[in-house]
Amino acid sequence: MREHRIAAIPGDGIGNEVLPEALRVLDRVGAAHGFRLAATVLPWSCERYLTDGAMMPADGLDRLREHDAVFLGAVGYPGVPDHVSLWGLLIPIRRAFGQYVNMRPIRLFDGITGPLRDATPRMVDMVVVRENNEGEYSEIGGRLYQGTPEEFAVQQSTFTRRGTERIMRFAFELAAERSGRVASATKSNGIIHTMPFWDEVFGEFAAAHPDLSTEQLHIDALAAGFVLNPARFDVIVASNLFGDILSDLGAAVAGSIGIAPSANLNPSGSHPSMFEPVHGSAPDIAGRGVANPIGQIWSGALMLRHLGHEAAAREVESAIETVLATTDARTPDLGGTASTTEMTDEIIRALPSA
Ligand code: NAI
Ligand code: MG
Repeated sequence: MREHRIAAIPGDGIGNEVLPEALRVLDRVGAAHGFRLAATVLPWSCERYLTDGAMMPADGLDRLREHDAVFLGAVGYPGVPDHVSLWGLLIPIRRAFGQYVNMRPIRLFDGITGPLRDATPRMVDMVVVRENNEGEYSEIGGRLYQGTPEEFAVQQSTFTRRGTERIMRFAFELAAERSGRVASATKSNGIIHTMPFWDEVFGEFAAAHPDLSTEQLHIDALAAGFVLNPARFDVIVASNLFGDILSDLGAAVAGSIGIAPSANLNPSGSHPSMFEPVHGSAPDIAGRGVANPIGQIWSGALMLRHLGHEAAAREVESAIETVLATTDARTPDLGGTASTTEMTDEIIRALPSA
């Protein structure tokens, strides 16, 4: 039986509730498709930071490297500043492993009433391709004259040709497999060095792919467009910050952030890729067993696809579709009363192998 070594990091808050449930679903399809996920559960979290002074051990990245993929819940919790949890775990993994694509699909499912009441599943089906290694999220900068009236802070965005070209290449290839449409998020009217550069590289790719339909929009107009006319969009390529914001907005347009999945991909395969829901640790509902597990389960489906199990991935996605379209099972974020476990059980029941 084929075995994949998975580093499972539940993290904080509802990460501990949704990740084990998603593993239950993946184990089930694995058994039916002749593969096994050997999960090593790593308790790297804000709790660890408070007792040991670091989110993960010093050799953490080396330990992750021994795995075929990383499956992550969410990190961050009140009591530990968010920049500590982000830069102590998530960002080092994304960068050290060259996971330069953050791919975030957005779909409205049948059975979910999105805030755009008249929207249909055909109208909301897009993928945000977020640059995941550079851009606005940079350690370059500093603060001077702290605590004085002259205090100031500088943070330097970095856009490299290599980094910009490789994210464009991924987005254009994905668009070619999907609808043939790709939109670029820019702000070259206000951010006058990096964004014109981003636009130039996008223009080079557009010129090289005359078969694809391309457009570029300023991020503010693009954000409005997500709400006013989501059907206009299919693949959206965006810098680190713009992609982060657009994918939360997209998740909201599709009904709940609890559903949205993400894949941090190293397309070369030289290091493990990482799969995690878009949402955070949700301290406001943590510990009550009511978190929506779909974002984590769908992220698990993306992981199976990445590991070469297309049929198993599709089965998980179809089970999610079936449960939402044909049953009333919903967690409270979608107006229902199901617990995390009940919702997961419904999805497992909808698997063909069940
Ligand atoms: P959040 O995503 O944790 O929560 C935002 C809102 O959405 C809350 O009202 C929450 O209850 C709800 N929500 C989120 N996931 C849900 C689910 N599965 N089911 C039902 N409702 C859900 O974002 P917030 O509050 O900004 O951040 C909380 C902590 O999580 C912070 O420490 C933050 O840094 C961290 N975080 C971590 C991320 C990661 O690990 N990738 C991503 C985003 C935030
Ligand atoms: Mg985010």
